[in-house]
Amino acid sequence: MIFELLTTVLSVTTYLSGQPAHLEYSNHKNTEPSSGCGLVPTWQFDAHNRANVTMGDRSFLVHIPMSYDVTTPHAMVLSFHGFKRDDVNQEKISGFSDKGITLNGKGIIAVYPNGQFGPGKNGNESIRAWQGAPYSPLGVDDIAFTQEMVQLLQVNLCIDGQRIYASGKSNGGGFTNLLACTPSTANLFAAFAPVSAALYSGANPQNCAPGRVVPIINFHGLADTTIPFYGQRADKHNRMEYATPSITQYREAWALRNGCRPSLNCSAGPLLGINALISHPHNNTTLEQSICSASNNDAVVSGFTVKCLGHSWPSTLGLDGGFTDFNATTADILPFFEMHTL
Ligand SMILES: *[C@@H]1O[C@H](CO)[C@@H](O)[C@H](O)[C@H]1NC(C)=O
Ligand SMILES: *[C@@H]1O[C@H](CO)[C@@H](O)[C@H](O)[C@H]1NC(C)=O
Ligand SMILES: *[C@@H]1O[C@H](CO)[C@@H](O)[C@H](O)[C@H]1NC(C)=O
Ligand SMILES: *[C@@H]1O[C@H](CO)[C@@H](O)[C@H](O)[C@H]1NC(C)=O
Ligand SMILES: *[C@@H]1O[C@H](CO)[C@@H](O)[C@H](O)[C@H]1NC(C)=O
Ligand SMILES: *[C@@H]1O[C@H](CO)[C@@H](O)[C@H](O)[C@H]1NC(C)=O
Repeated sequence: MIFELLTTVLSVTTYLSGQPAHLEYSNHKNTEPSSGCGLVPTWQFDAHNRANVTMGDRSFLVHIPMSYDVTTPHAMVLSFHGFKRDDVNQEKISGFSDKGITLNGKGIIAVYPNGQFGPGKNGNESIRAWQGAPYSPLGVDDIAFTQEMVQLLQVNLCIDGQRIYASGKSNGGGFTNLLACTPSTANLFAAFAPVSAALYSGANPQNCAPGRVVPIINFHGLADTTIPFYGQRADKHNRMEYATPSITQYREAWALRNGCRPSLNCSAGPLLGINALISHPHNNTTLEQSICSASNNDAVVSGFTVKCLGHSWPSTLGLDGGFTDFNATTADILPFFEMHTL
């Protein structure tokens, strides 16, 4: 107790005296404190520890843990909403603000950004969407927005720069993939979790080149009719810009980028499941895990295929429509994030 108090006093003193920040973190492994460490946040958090932050014409919802401590770098997870959805819906379905969630033994900062309003699927509406879809708002640079938002978060809160993660659902999952494909943001996040991702060509560019090995954890339902697991050449109105790849091929493309090499065994047939270990971690769920390097634990792609699940973030409560007997966030995504740092 007294020791803890002393440590805190020392930490604050160290901050005020402007000494190198790494000193007071010597007993935490592998953390990189942001400039917001040691500063009382200027944002107004409500009784539920949430703040709605505006940044120019954009906004994002931030949830800090009950245990938030200005001298302790916390992991941070960004969670991007789907088409037509928003910050509040994404907080509900992904549950990163839930009690008891930790990474590196500490409560996490959860951030739910809002997309801008685009023209919608008919071109004549005003509907929130992220970059990379046929219905994305024209001329909006969500990559730059994400970089600015992370910077603003880092100067306002005490964040561990080695443990910032990106996740998202549907259009937000596609955008999460785009963040992983873009070198300047592939470098910002330690791992990526696209869920039921809308992988239109703008979100899953052919020249996807992250510039580093990128840990990917992906979920997709076999009963998804919005973004079908086996891909589509066009939507039901025959619009080719709505083409999406087969999820198996999408995962294999990431495995190749992460250094997996297709087997040269001619009798083995098509290159399905490159280096993949197949397991069944949950009922109705197959996990194909491509482990592409014995020495680099980031060279991994974990693909969860969920039988009977539609276009949903897997949860036992059906928070996003589909019921599963596991919560993707707590059962799989957080343990995956835990294993990866920048
Ligand atoms: C936050 O504010 C923006 C407007 O700046 C609004 O669109 C959004 O719905 C708000 N979010 C919450 C959770 O109140
Ligand atoms: C937008 O266009 C669609 C199809 O072209 C039409 O059915 C719909 O009524 C239009 N909506 C608005 C708000 O104008
Ligand atoms: C090649 O693939 C076949 C069919 O999957 C398998 O039975 C065989 O063991 C493989 N051989 C090697 C050398 O991996
Ligand atoms: C599958 O479901 C059964 C019955 O609900 C349960 O007892 C079992 O633990 C589940 N298995 C897994 C791997 O979740
Ligand atoms: C598998 O999914 C089906 C359809 O959603 C469901 O009825 C069944 O209970 C699930 N099995 C288990 C063991 O959870
Ligand atoms: C899933 O999360 C909900 C809260 O979001 C919780 O009530 C439920 O017990 C969790 N289920 C499992 C299997 O962890």
